[in-house]
Amino acid sequence: MADFDDPAFYGDCWAGVYDEQHAWMDPAPAVEFLTGLAADRRVLELAVGTGRVALPLAACGIAVEGVDASAAMVDRLRAKPGGASIPVVIGDMAQVPAAGPFGLVYLVFNSLFGLLSQARQAECFGNVARVLGPGGVFVIECFVPDLTRFDRGQRVQARTVTEDSAILELSCHDAVQQRITTQIITFDGHGTHLRPVALRYSWPSELDLMAQQADLQLRDRYGGWDRQPFDSASRGHVSVYQRP
Ligand SMILES: C[S@@+](CC[C@H](N)C(=O)[O-])C[C@H]1O[C@@H](n2cnc3c(N)ncnc32)[C@H](O)[C@@H]1O
Repeated sequence: MADFDDPAFYGDCWAGVYDEQHAWMDPAPAVEFLTGLAADRRVLELAVGTGRVALPLAACGIAVEGVDASAAMVDRLRAKPGGASIPVVIGDMAQVPAAGPFGLVYLVFNSLFGLLSQARQAECFGNVARVLGPGGVFVIECFVPDLTRFDRGQRVQARTVTEDSAILELSCHDAVQQRITTQIITFDGHGTHLRPVALRYSWPSELDLMAQQADLQLRDRYGGWDRQPFDSASRGHVSVYQRP
């Protein structure tokens, strides 16, 4: 059986329901932010998935390409209007299997944390730096870890409860590995469905060190796509790293 160490695992488990379950997320602020940075340079989205952000970005006239490990996710992207014309490589984002130079590489919705070790995340930074052209930027959107969510290393949450279904989220936290393993479990008239997610979180300072080791400098950090200030109350950040 495939497992969390298989880069395609998450996408293959989620492709059938990903768009439906994330329909509440508005990509517009991210698209506006990224359009401003892209100018007329080539752009690469790592973990492009079903094209939630890449498609509206391409619709703004930006030359977007993608990398994703899951053919099932990318099949969804290709089936959408405009999806077939976005070049996508099926592969591991830690290796950044795309030929640069790019002016902008981005990785949204905590997807960097889908690389399940510090070494894999640092490898990704190194390979992004390799495909960026001079002055090119790497943008990441990540949550700031909130360990108060866990009680003795675990969390149980009722996500949605309706007349005929319930969605529960069960998580375990490993503070040493900085890893959160979750099952999102749906109970409905069709039975029980398990949808797994594993994340290895990094603190903002840790990400900055990975960037520095890849010769990328933190240029800006915001509390979100609307360029809110980043401070100790911020639950997430959008960080812009630049290649000299
Ligand atoms: C949370 S989804 C995000 C998709 C899209 N960027 C979005 O914002 O909707 C994470 C994506 O990362 C992909 N992924 C996970 N691990 C990967 C890896 N090692 N290399 C490439 N893609 C990976 C999954 O297949 C999935 O499409």
